[in-house]
Parts: sequence; structure tokens; C-alpha cells
Amino acid sequence: HITPVLLCGGSGTRLWPLSRKSYPKQFVPLMGKETLFQASARRLHGQELGPDGELGFAPPLVLTNSDFRFIVTEQLGLAGIDPGAVLIEPEGRNTAPAILAAASHLAASDPEALMLVAPSDHVVPETAAFHAAIARGLGPVREGRLVTFGIHPDRPETGYGYLELDAPVADGAPQALLRFVEKPDANRAEAMLASGNFLWNAGIFMARAADMVSAFRAHAPEIFAPVEAALAAARTDLGFLRLDPEAWAQAPDISIDYAVMEKAENLSVVPFSGEWSDLGGWDAVWRESGPDEDGIVTSHGATAIDCRNTLLRSESDRLEIVGIGLDNIMAIATGDAVLVADMSRAQDVKKAVEALKAKE
Ligand code: GDD
Ligand code: MG
Repeated sequence: HITPVLLCGGSGTRLWPLSRKSYPKQFVPLMGKETLFQASARRLHGQELGPDGELGFAPPLVLTNSDFRFIVTEQLGLAGIDPGAVLIEPEGRNTAPAILAAASHLAASDPEALMLVAPSDHVVPETAAFHAAIARGLGPVREGRLVTFGIHPDRPETGYGYLELDAPVADGAPQALLRFVEKPDANRAEAMLASGNFLWNAGIFMARAADMVSAFRAHAPEIFAPVEAALAAARTDLGFLRLDPEAWAQAPDISIDYAVMEKAENLSVVPFSGEWSDLGGWDAVWRESGPDEDGIVTSHGATAIDCRNTLLRSESDRLEIVGIGLDNIMAIATGDAVLVADMSRAQDVKKAVEALKAKE
């Protein structure tokens, strides 16, 4: 069985004002009725999968911070999923410490345990195709490799990691990785897109838990000691496993992409050609919501007149949004805030949150 490791500790500031510090994007129904977190958990749930039924998921291990622990259990309960363990990070230290804590926790009880690290901010509508890709990754995982999933890029996105393959992309079979480049600048992203040998890193990692631990030991020893100490001194509290705050505070704040993936040499890539999106910003929500032929996406409570490439979304029953003659604009209203921005500035929405915080 594979244990899904669900990461849901991020704060999602680029989706303000819908995503809030106390209630970030992964716990909000952004697309459809389910939250992104529920959809991520459901995607990795179910006992018999794959053509020969050999692929099964164990109950998920969830990593989050204290503020979200009851949201996590409530949303999993509503989705009919029992969590295995819920590990509480005393504070967010980014994905590297969190993933090491999960790997080490799993490897301690079963040296052969397999883990699949899954972010909770993705849209992956074709579950069966995704499961087939996971099944293709099992071979390399059993050979001790770290597997990541590669997405065919269609624009020079600077918010993703890029995977350079050892040969042109083939038919979905696992390929060895030459180089992992996290979040390139625009020029480098253009060059990688043009070269044709690069895929986007989906941010979904599969490995034997013990091999993940070894990769950290080899490439990120500075994360190792504090995380081990935080696990050793962890306390059980109402069914949650709370990592020790003092030890955890010593862990560097760094993502797994920079800490391990850019350095590891035993990486394999499974190309995934199904639909995939990281709902990182409002431009992605617009793109994923199926704009009409004029590029318009409106929610209930929003009206666009003579607009193009525009997202108008009201989350409040008491606020109606009307746009006239807009081009490349997004406007999002909630009960207490309105964001209006150029669509090309979607990545800068986090600056709005910083500016408001500075005023507090
Ligand atoms: N538990 C926990 N603790 N989860 C966290 C933390 C943390 O401190 N920080 C982030 N996360 C969660 C987020 O909620 C999200 O689900 C996931 O980890 C990934 O973090 P992001 O902050 O969304 O990463 P990213 O999108 O900038 O980059 C990663 O994903 C891209 C694809 O979506 C990288 O892996 C890129 O290489 C990749 O292309
Ligand atoms: Mg993301």
C-alpha cells in the first residue's frame, strides 16, 4: 500500500481575499462543491486501483499546522475518509521539514513503507489516468529511486519547477532525470520551454519512505537533526501528533525542491499527460473555470458587459459585481474585501496581503 502524505499547511496568499490566513485556499470550495483539500484526499483514497488491483492507498498522513487541525478532520469526515495520522507543525517551515517528518514517521513503523507526497492545491480531474501514472512509478520506486511526475508545459511559467529529461519525452514510461530547476526566471523558462526536453514538476513525489529519509540525510543534513528531535519529543494530543516546538523552530524554512530535488541524483520522472493545474493564483482559477469565447468567467452575482479575458467573482450574497468594457482584469469580492487587478499581476496578489499586514 501507498500512504498518501497530504500537505495542507500553506497559506495561499495569492488567492486573497478568498484565501485567508485563518482559512486558506485549500479548505475553501474554489471550483465545484468540494474543497481542494477534500478533492486531493479523495483522489488518493480507495482500496483497489489499477488494472490488476495491486495499487491500494493506506489512510492518509496529513501534515498541517495547529490552526487547521479541526478543519482537516472535519473536511475529511465530510468526505468519508479516516486519516491515518495527523502531524501538527508548530509553525510552517515550508515543505522540506514537513516531508522529512512524514517520511521518518512512516519509515519508523515500516522500513518498506511507500509514500506519495501530494499538495492540496491542485486540480487533477482525470483520476484514473493519474492512478495509472502512479502505477507506472512503482517500478523505479522499488529500485530505490525518488519519483516525480512531469507535466507537458504550455507556457513559460516561472512559478513551477522544471525537469530536464535524459531524452525527448516518450510514451509515459518513467525516464531518468538530468536536472531539476526550481522556479527559473522568465528567460530561463522561455529557453526550457523551447528546448522540448523539459517537463513541469507537478510537485507530487513518490518514494520508499526510507529512501526519502536517506535523500535528506545526504543532501540536507541541516534539516535532519531538528526534525528527528521534533519527532522524538512529539506529543499526542486529542489524536493529533504534535511535533516539538523548540526542536522544530531550529529547522530551516526551505522547500523540498531546493533542499533535496535539485541535488538528488536518483530521480525518475513519470510523464503525466492528463489535465493538471496548481491553483496558485486567480489567473489559474480563471483558466481552469472554462472561460467562454470572449475569455469571460463570472460567478453567481457577477455580470460582464463588453468585457474580454476577465474574471468577475462575488462571494457575497449582498454584493453584485458588474464590469463594463474590461480587458484582462480580475475582480473578486468577499463580504469584507474587494480585489481588482490586472490579470497579468496575479502572482503579485501576495503583495496585497503583505501591504495589509503592514497596516495592522
Ligand atoms: N504541511 C505543510 N507545511 N504544507 C505546506 C507548507 C508547510 O510549511 N508549505 C507549503 N505547504 C503545502 C501547500 O499548501 C501546498 O499544498 C504544497 O505544500 C506545495 O506548496 P506551494 O507553496 O504551493 O509550492 P509551489 O506551488 O510554489 O511549488 C511546488 O509545486 C509546483 C507545482 O504545483 C514545487 O514543487 C514546484 O517545483 C512545482 O512545480
Ligand atoms: Mg502550489
